[in-house]
Amino acid sequence: MQARKIIIGNWKMNGTPEMARSLAAAVAKRAASLGSEVVICPPATLLHAVSDAPIAKGGQDCSAEAAGAFTGDVSATMLKEAGCDYVIVGHSERRQHHGETDARVRAKAAQAVAAGLVPVICVGETLAEREAGREEQVVATQVAGSVPPGVGEGSFILAYEPVWAIGTGKTPTNEDIRAMHAHILTVSARETGLAQSQISVLYGGSVKSGNAKEILAINGVAGVLVGGASLVAEEFCKIIEVA
Ligand code: PGA
Repeated sequence: MQARKIIIGNWKMNGTPEMARSLAAAVAKRAASLGSEVVICPPATLLHAVSDAPIAKGGQDCSAEAAGAFTGDVSATMLKEAGCDYVIVGHSERRQHHGETDARVRAKAAQAVAAGLVPVICVGETLAEREAGREEQVVATQVAGSVPPGVGEGSFILAYEPVWAIGTGKTPTNEDIRAMHAHILTVSARETGLAQSQISVLYGGSVKSGNAKEILAINGVAGVLVGGASLVAEEFCKIIEVA
């Protein structure tokens, strides 16, 4: 497991150019002094506003196609040219509101890899699936269906985000996170042929400055994907500090 934790801020559909500039500058300053891998993922239209901040950037989604008649979509190459090194794919909000299937997420991740971006491939069960005891099966299917073939060490990241923990203030127990990360590492190593030590699995869902330290200390947690708390400079900087 890598020692350097990865901290990704998913701004979702929030922000103005002014807010983006000041938040990116504050986060970049803090990240530079600490040495973690910190990535901010603003909406695509705000990438220009954060372009001068010396910090890694990511998109929140990309097209499953390379180019062409796909009105409203943004390609992985366009994100790369706008200064991104990462892109989130398969976030549960995309799976839920845009009907994205594992096959579509895999095509998006493949486009990202081809464009030189690191896809952050999100998986996670719903509350009903966990209550039915199906969480490991559901997540294994998502991992097997969403990771493109031929990926190598460092060319993709997985993020475990239980749907019921996103934006709710609820988180799984530390033991549940440990068990699911171990499961995801087992499945993804089997699917990709990589060693578990070559794969990074982030945790996401209601990560805040108050719980980041203990979550980041769990075996198998390579970093965190932060939503709401990444929009508040002080909160996000505290998470970077504990990492
Ligand atoms: P949250 O969102 O931190 O606000 O729960 C996480 C995410 O959706 O990536």
